[in-house]
This record gives sequence, C-alpha cells and structure tokens, in this order.
Amino acid sequence: MKFFVDTADLDEIKEAESWGCLSGVTTNPSLYAKTGGKLADFEGHMVKICQICEGLPVSAESTAETTEDMIAEGRRLASLAPNIVVKLPICEASLPAMHTLAKEGIRVNCTLVFSAPQALLAARAGARYISPFVGRFDDIGDEGLDHLEEMIDAVHNYSYGYWDEEDGPEIITASVRTPHHVTQAALLGADIATVPFGALKKCVHHPLTDRGLELFAADWAKVTAEA
Ligand code: G3P
Repeated sequence: MKFFVDTADLDEIKEAESWGCLSGVTTNPSLYAKTGGKLADFEGHMVKICQICEGLPVSAESTAETTEDMIAEGRRLASLAPNIVVKLPICEASLPAMHTLAKEGIRVNCTLVFSAPQALLAARAGARYISPFVGRFDDIGDEGLDHLEEMIDAVHNYSYGYWDEEDGPEIITASVRTPHHVTQAALLGADIATVPFGALKKCVHHPLTDRGLELFAADWAKVTAEA
C-alpha cells in the first residue's frame, strides 16, 4: 500500500516527503483553509506542493458546482503542474465532468465516497482515484472499515478501460485517523492510504520501539562508561 499525506501544510509536506516513503499528497478546501490560505493564493499554494513533491500526484479540489464549471476548473487546475490530480466530489454534476476530464487524460480523484455504488459509478465515469472515507463513518457510530472493504472489493472486481490495468482506478483510503485504520486498509487491499501528518507520525512509533531505544541507550551508556 502506498502512503499519501493528507494535508495542505507545506512544512508537513516537506517533512513527510523527506522520509522517502511518500507517494502523493491530497488536499481539500478544509485543509487549505486550515493553513490560513486565501483564495488568491490557492493556485500558487498548489504549485508549491507540486514542486516539493515533484512527480508525485497532488490532489487539488475543485469547489465548482456545475458540470461545466468543474470541467473548466479541472482543466485549469491540471494546467498548473503535470502532477496535479483534480479532486471532485461524487455527485450528479461531477460524473460527466470526470468522464470528460478522463477522456482528455486528466486524472480525477473522486472524493466524499461513502458507498460501493458511488465508487463503481466513479470508476465507470473514469476516475483515476476513488477516495472512500473511513473516519467519518466511525464519527457517526458506524464501521468505516466495513464500508471500505465493500468499496475495495466492488471496484477491484472489474476493469474500466480508462487507465492502465495496473494503474487504476486506485482506491485511496481517506478520512484516516489512526494507525489501526492504516493497518486494516492495507490488509483489505487498499491501493493507497492518505494519512494526516499527525497520524502518519504515529505510524512510525510503537511503545516497544521507544522502550527498546531507551534500553539500548542505557546499555550503551554502560559500555561507553567502561571505555
Ligand atoms: O481528504 C479527505 C479526507 O481525508 C478528510 O478526512 O478527517 O476530515 O474526515 P477527515
């Protein structure tokens, strides 16, 4: 499973990218707002992310509401950098936009996906990535991972003819909150998990690793004291 970082914060993206295990970045309007970014700086901010993560897919979300506006904004976002992926929420207006953009070779990440029928429709329309949300199900007392499993199985049952067989559509597990979500997404066969930087850091750590490091340091201090 590949790791994407789910943030628009440039420092977080730089640090995650420096680890050498990052395969992409996803952003959304809420994550951009969290950086304090203004409308006029949005496109420049996306370009900065694309430069930090040269060659890696960077999802920039359209906030357009009609098919025509989604297509126009999608084309504009895609022209910002070769690694931009246009993010569109699943809805009646976005399906024809996804289809048009896919036929032009513009990659779309279909977001806000909560059911297998939504995921299958996005795949048929030509989405290159499909993003089922896990944590938001958990927030309402449902089992996000059960829904994720259904969506992965349903989409991976078929091929769709838009992208290389091997390449897509890939399932991005989104709305990830914990290392447990990451583990389960991998066991369920998700292609990608997009993880907030805080949760990504948690994935690096384990209490037994921390304890082991303390023990090694304490024992090494004995060795160096004897020298
Ligand atoms: O990028 C979309 C998704 O990952 C958002 O997650 O935590 O706002 O449900 P969250």
